[in-house]
Amino acid sequence: MSETPPTTPLLQATGLVKRYGSVTALGGADLDLYPGEILAVIGDNGAGKSSLIKCLSGAVVPDAGEIRIDGHPVRLDTPPAARAAGIETVHQSLAVAPSLDIAANIFLGREIRRPGVLGRVFRSLDHGRMREEARRHLDSLGVMTIQNPGQAVETLSGGQRQAVAVARAAAFGSRVVIMDEPTAALGVRESRAVLDLILRVRDRGLPVIVISHNMPHVFEIADRIHIQRLGRRVACVTPDQYSMTEVVAVMTGAMAIDDPPAVPGPPAAAAGG
Ligand SMILES: Nc1ncnc2c1ncn2[C@@H]1O[C@H](COP(=O)(O)OP(=O)(O)OP(=O)(O)O)[C@@H](O)[C@H]1O
Ligand SMILES: [Mg+2]
Repeated sequence: MSETPPTTPLLQATGLVKRYGSVTALGGADLDLYPGEILAVIGDNGAGKSSLIKCLSGAVVPDAGEIRIDGHPVRLDTPPAARAAGIETVHQSLAVAPSLDIAANIFLGREIRRPGVLGRVFRSLDHGRMREEARRHLDSLGVMTIQNPGQAVETLSGGQRQAVAVARAAAFGSRVVIMDEPTAALGVRESRAVLDLILRVRDRGLPVIVISHNMPHVFEIADRIHIQRLGRRVACVTPDQYSMTEVVAVMTGAMAIDDPPAVPGPPAAAAGG
């Protein structure tokens, strides 16, 4: 890998601390996300992965630490603040409304009202337009197994639900899409489809942070792997630098990487061209 001058991370967290009573979920955690990359975040149960991305999505306010976008400090104290900054998150507990249809889920909280007095005064929703646009978003991500955006989400398979949540994030995330264990509950084929979706989101220029326990998935799609252990980033590596066994050993504390933790340059994928 050639030396590329490090660019400013698109999204950077330094020294994040989050305590819940006597439990330290994050004990000075760092994270760097560079433009155009898929950053996998791995770590044992309870390592603070979800807590870390909750700080980035405004779901949790850290007790200490700093978050920067394009090098500028930002406050992401609420989910709307994070969304306004262009960060869209698909949480571990997939936040879809099962009884609503696909289009309504994609536009949840951002409903399109009907033009004129019907929309302005009577708050009447433009279902036709939301369905058309939902179809367009799904098509642009290659989600072809969903035929009717008017179908209730509770009638979809697990993988299709995940696809709806990803489509929503990709439709509105202008800077970053974060996914917490998007394939955890899925079968082989559905996982495959979601992995392809993640790659397509990245290829459209949106960097992705993806939490996963599935090492083959991580090694397949990640440009860099952030290893979280006991509430901190202990290393950040590229999949060609270390084997799965070594990465798992670092994750569990059986092996240490003595390189100064993280801040390798921008991802190889972006540099290689
Ligand atoms: N709301 C909360 N209240 C109390 N403790 C919490 C809360 N959220 C997280 N924790 C604790 O913080 C630690 C980190 O949790 P977190 O959910 O971030 O882990 P994780 O790496 O996402 O784990 P998993 O792989 O199981 O999803 C755990 O010990 C957890 O019990
Ligand atoms: Mg978690």
